[in-house]
Amino acid sequence: MPIILKSRDEVAIMREAGRILAEVREIVVDRLRPGLVEKELDEVARKEFKKRKVVPAFLGYLGYPATVCVSANDKIVHGIPGDRELMDGDIVSIDIGCIYKGFVADCAVTIGIGDVSPEAQRLIDVTREALNRGIGAARAGARLGEIGAAIQGYVEGEGFSVVREYVGHGVGRQMHEDPQVPNYGRPDSGPILKEGMVIAIEPMVNAGDWRTKRDSDNWTVRTLDGSLSAHFEHTLAIRDGEAEVLTLP
Ligand code: MF3
Ligand code: CO
Repeated sequence: MPIILKSRDEVAIMREAGRILAEVREIVVDRLRPGLVEKELDEVARKEFKKRKVVPAFLGYLGYPATVCVSANDKIVHGIPGDRELMDGDIVSIDIGCIYKGFVADCAVTIGIGDVSPEAQRLIDVTREALNRGIGAARAGARLGEIGAAIQGYVEGEGFSVVREYVGHGVGRQMHEDPQVPNYGRPDSGPILKEGMVIAIEPMVNAGDWRTKRDSDNWTVRTLDGSLSAHFEHTLAIRDGEAEVLTLP
C-alpha cells in the first residue's frame, strides 16, 4: 500500500525527514574530490545521521552493508562504498536514505569529480533534467505513466537510454512501497497519483544501452555495455495537487 499523508503532523515529519536527508547529502557531496576513498563517504554519512538522531535507511536493508551507495562511472546503482579512490574525471552517484520518526526519505545525485569529459557532463545534466521533467509530470490525477513517458521521451531524444530493471517507488513508511515508478512507459498507463501520496522518482540514465548486469557482490549494478551511467532521485509528496519536493536542504 502506498503511504498517503493524512495529518499535518505526518506532513511535517515527512518534510523534516527530507530536509535532514538533503542536509546530510550536501555534507557528503562536499567531501567529493580526487583521491577520496569511497568508504570515507560512508563514515561521514553515518556520523552526520547519528548527530541528527536519524537512522540510516539503507544499512541492513535486505542485508545491504553500508549507509550510502556510491556508484562510479559504469555503475548504475547500489555500489557498496569500498577502498577505491575517486579519480579525476569520474562521475559518481551518491544514493542516501534515512528514517526520521518512522518516516523514510530517499534521494540521489551524480557529481563529476574534477575535470569530466563533455559527454559525461552532458549525461549528468540530462539525467538531472530528466528528474525535473518527471517531477513536473507528478500531480494529483496524473497517471504514473506520464512521469515515465516524460523522462523517457526527453532522455531518448538526447541520445541516451533509461534503465528498465530498476525503478522509482512509493516511499514513506517503508523505503520501497507501491506503486513502482518506472522511468519509461506510456502516458495513458499506470495508477493515478493522489493527494498526499509520497513517491521517489529516480531516473537512471545510461550513455549506451539500457541493459544492466550485477556484480558477484549481488548489489552493484552496472551497465551491460560498460558505458557511463548517471542517477538522480528526489522524494516528493503530492500536496495541493502539485509535487512538493521534500529532499531539499
Ligand atoms: N535508493 C535506493 C533504491 O531506491 C535504495 C538503496 S537500496 C539499499 O533502490 F539496499 F542499498 F539500501
Ligand atoms: Co529510491
